[in-house]
Amino acid sequence: MNNLVIAVDGPAGAGKSTIAKIIAKRLNINYIDTGAMYRAITYKCLKNNIDINNEEEVVRIAQNTDIDFRDNNLYLDKEIVNEEIRTIEVSNNVSNVAKIKDVRYLMVDVQREIGERNSVILDGRDIGSYVFPNADYKFYLIATPEERGIRRFKELTEKGYDTSLEEIIKDIIKRDEIDSNREFAPLVKAEDAIEIDTTGKSIDEVVDYVLSKINL
Ligand code: CDP
Ligand code: CDP
Repeated sequence: MNNLVIAVDGPAGAGKSTIAKIIAKRLNINYIDTGAMYRAITYKCLKNNIDINNEEEVVRIAQNTDIDFRDNNLYLDKEIVNEEIRTIEVSNNVSNVAKIKDVRYLMVDVQREIGERNSVILDGRDIGSYVFPNADYKFYLIATPEERGIRRFKELTEKGYDTSLEEIIKDIIKRDEIDSNREFAPLVKAEDAIEIDTTGKSIDEVVDYVLSKINL
């Protein structure tokens, strides 16, 4: 039997990872947070004082980095990373790392390899449009920038970050713009993806809707 591949794409804060994690558990398949991979490279560059605008240097770091997912954890050079890749500093820089074609090639290779080995749900920006154009199911989640900003703001303040809603909305809009306008594999709804506007919807409502579209 072929592996099941489910693609969940959309802009920042649309609810992709929250929904994808729940679906993975319900269907007992793997969950791959592809954004975490770009965040991990960005984190490693910042930690090593690499200038994010120096593409050659960033690519060199990416080429010398080991990224893997096991038991739904992301391993960066054999160490589990989690909170450190979700800081505001990483968020502010990640889209400039993710727009580098050679970095994307490396990440996409890992994603495809995992998808070939296992049944997976992946969330990202280009999963349905580029990484797995033949995915069994494709979803494209959206919500207004205000609602996405409020969701992210709540998350970060609960974790104790000192930030403002304005700053978060600004970051989200800027990232959406860079992600949508990059030359290679931009954020775009695949033609055959099911679009879900999650504005004003609860997590359960979105999960139920997604599950109603999946026939196993
Ligand atoms: O969780 P949030 O929406 O804030 O972002 P993320 O999913 O962690 O992704 C962080 C960044 O990685 C995005 O803003 C994109 O620049 C990049 N990304 C990408 O280019 N392609 C993907 N498949 C996933 C993420
Ligand atoms: O992965 P993505 O950036 O698309 O979003 P996320 O990291 O899943 O973050 C969405 C935030 O909004 C989380 O704190 C969720 O609890 C919340 N949320 C949601 O995901 N979906 C809704 N329908 C309502 C709220």
